[in-house]
Amino acid sequence: MFSHPVGKKDGVTEAELAGMKSAIDKAHGHIQALIADPRNRISLGLEWARLPFQGKEVISRIQKLGDEIAFSYENVISLGIGGSYLGLKAAQDALRPPYYNEFSPERNGRPKIYFEGNNLDPDTLSVLLKNLDPKKTFVIVISKSGETTETKTAFAITEAWLKKGVGKRYGRQVFAITDPESGTLRNKVRNEQAKDKESFRNLPVMKGVGGRFSELNIGLLHLAIVGIDINEVLRGGQAMAKRCSSRDIFKNPANMYAALNTILYRKKNKSIAVLMPFSETLKSTADWYVQLLAESLGKKYSRKVIRRKDGSEIWEMDKVVNVGRTPTPARGTNDLHSIQQNNIEGENNKVVTFIRVEKFKRDLEVPISGDILSGRRYSRLLSLAQVATEWALAAEARPNCAIIMPEITPFHWGELIFFFEMATAFEGELLNVNAFDQPGVEGYKNYLYYKLGKPGIPKEVEDAIKNNELKKKEKFIF
Ligand code: PA5
Repeated sequence: MFSHPVGKKDGVTEAELAGMKSAIDKAHGHIQALIADPRNRISLGLEWARLPFQGKEVISRIQKLGDEIAFSYENVISLGIGGSYLGLKAAQDALRPPYYNEFSPERNGRPKIYFEGNNLDPDTLSVLLKNLDPKKTFVIVISKSGETTETKTAFAITEAWLKKGVGKRYGRQVFAITDPESGTLRNKVRNEQAKDKESFRNLPVMKGVGGRFSELNIGLLHLAIVGIDINEVLRGGQAMAKRCSSRDIFKNPANMYAALNTILYRKKNKSIAVLMPFSETLKSTADWYVQLLAESLGKKYSRKVIRRKDGSEIWEMDKVVNVGRTPTPARGTNDLHSIQQNNIEGENNKVVTFIRVEKFKRDLEVPISGDILSGRRYSRLLSLAQVATEWALAAEARPNCAIIMPEITPFHWGELIFFFEMATAFEGELLNVNAFDQPGVEGYKNYLYYKLGKPGIPKEVEDAIKNNELKKKEKFIF
């Protein structure tokens, strides 16, 4: 990402980084102060920064619950979308063996996991429910708001299926993770528990933790069910939190990553962020990152910080800025045969971040003879391909960087996701946007609700939709 390998036009010079020092110090001071203050953490959505430090009793309770579910059922259907799904999938793919559902020795007696409710596509849920036995299936529904259309509808369908197959005590096979107080799902939990205390067991989504930052909150039960060591994931998060508390940017990987990306974005037109792990099992982690970056930093308005006398802050939307790098997930070596052509020869508007894994849990040797590939280890070929890709990009003045993961373990994965969360929060500071809301997501929801005739759509939103539709019609007619 620096100018030494890719030149001054496309890389960051030392002077440019030094020139940002006061902005970096200010951003670091602000974010660390926010994290240190529980009021601001909760009201502004930074409570995720404390998740790695959760108490041991909470974790052992969840671990016990996870084991109980895991060894009582053959299948678990996990319903959720966005932040209520991507982190779970990323953790499972990275930290449990590939083909987890297909091969029982890889599961070690634990249940098969089916993720649903992350689309309105009727095909997948239909086939799943047709083939699973409801008596052997546990259902987890995750929705912070308790209102999301995809999750709500998938749960209603799954609940009806479970009720039909299991009878009136079906609620004992349901677990809900949702807001502690409000929302349709929370009300449902209350009603069902009033009828049967053992049904609809549940956990609250913590206050001040937004969906895309919530893996170490809403994802814990899933980690426990599939048999991932939660304490190790948290320990990784803690280690990274410590590193990211350093004011010295050369010792703080999240701040360095965010600062370099910001300079490349603002000054060198690098608006596309390609995340390319060289590992099949980290592909879903790249998908998780896409949501993190897109929803956190793709913003229409800059942020106005209002400081109250007591030290608490309120953030308001200020000027129209329309900022944010566009994230793209990829994976090596697969995408060297697709997106890489564009990375190397297309518009020079990207920064490629690689994740290089140094040691794999398993390895293979190529049994070809009389070939340069003879006897080579797969893991060696993979890491050579990654370094070759770095080299090829740099030769074309394409900035890139590599995150080196010693091994894909719960500890290092915990470090990795916490690194990305801190880097995203820090980049939000440098861009001066609110990294913890997602007002843009409301646009499609409002239109959908309007079309479905949902009461309570704000008048100005209704008027805007009507005007837009009329404009489109006029265009079409004339
Ligand atoms: O990051 C976010 O806040 C969103 O992506 C949400 O996670 C997503 O919209 C799902 O919301 P909910 O958990 O309320 O169903």
